[in-house]
Amino acid sequence: MMLKKIPILVDNYVWILYNLQNFCIIIDPGLSEPIIKELEKKKWQPVAILLTHDHIDHTGGVKKIIEYFPKIDVFGPNETKRHGVNKIVNKGDKIFILNKIFHVFFTPGHTLGHVSYYSNPYIFCGDTLFSGGCGRVYEDKHLEMYNSIKIIASLPNNTILCCSHEYTLSNLKFAMFFLPNDESINLYFKKIKKRLNNFGKSSLPSFIMFEKKINLFLRTDEKCIKKYLGLKNNLNSFEVFVKLRLKKDFWS
Ligand SMILES: [Fe+2]
Ligand SMILES: [Fe+2]
Repeated sequence: MMLKKIPILVDNYVWILYNLQNFCIIIDPGLSEPIIKELEKKKWQPVAILLTHDHIDHTGGVKKIIEYFPKIDVFGPNETKRHGVNKIVNKGDKIFILNKIFHVFFTPGHTLGHVSYYSNPYIFCGDTLFSGGCGRVYEDKHLEMYNSIKIIASLPNNTILCCSHEYTLSNLKFAMFFLPNDESINLYFKKIKKRLNNFGKSSLPSFIMFEKKINLFLRTDEKCIKKYLGLKNNLNSFEVFVKLRLKKDFWS
């Protein structure tokens, strides 16, 4: 299946998977109008919506899309059920849509019931792992978030990371503040800045292989991270993750 992204709101993306028969799947439609407009333009027939979590910038468009395309299936975790979900998904579920298999990963931390959908080579991870960063942790669920981003990072290197926000540049600036001499981060920052300067370009999707190099939240077991954060050497990877996440909370 092929991938298309539609920018909405301030910095969200709605992802669409479509096939040669003009059927498509919509992931996290925070708005309806730009999505319906695009579908009409391309003559795509949506068969399903996938929801990752219960935040309005991911679910706000569902109601109107269902009204417009009443036959559509809406998949989502229990926390999203009030948004017209007719297929509740749970950890470990395998969903078959348009002859493709979607694995449901339970990825809490940003919300209590957040899920991600993996259909090789794509991972739709909502507000869990971002390019160069990770989602905000609510309700103090740092361990859950730490484990969730590890699940996503354990996917094959060529997995295409389809996260929901364009936060990459700001995440890389944060990383460069602490690791000003990190060659991978510096090079990636230059590349992304160039991409973003071209009209209509975005930094996404990313690849898991890049994230392992440039995302500090996936490098919390490295000694240099502890050193530059001024942390004690005996802290474990999870403790470093918490310190890093808290620093980021007050960064932007
Ligand atoms: Fe969110
Ligand atoms: Fe979001």
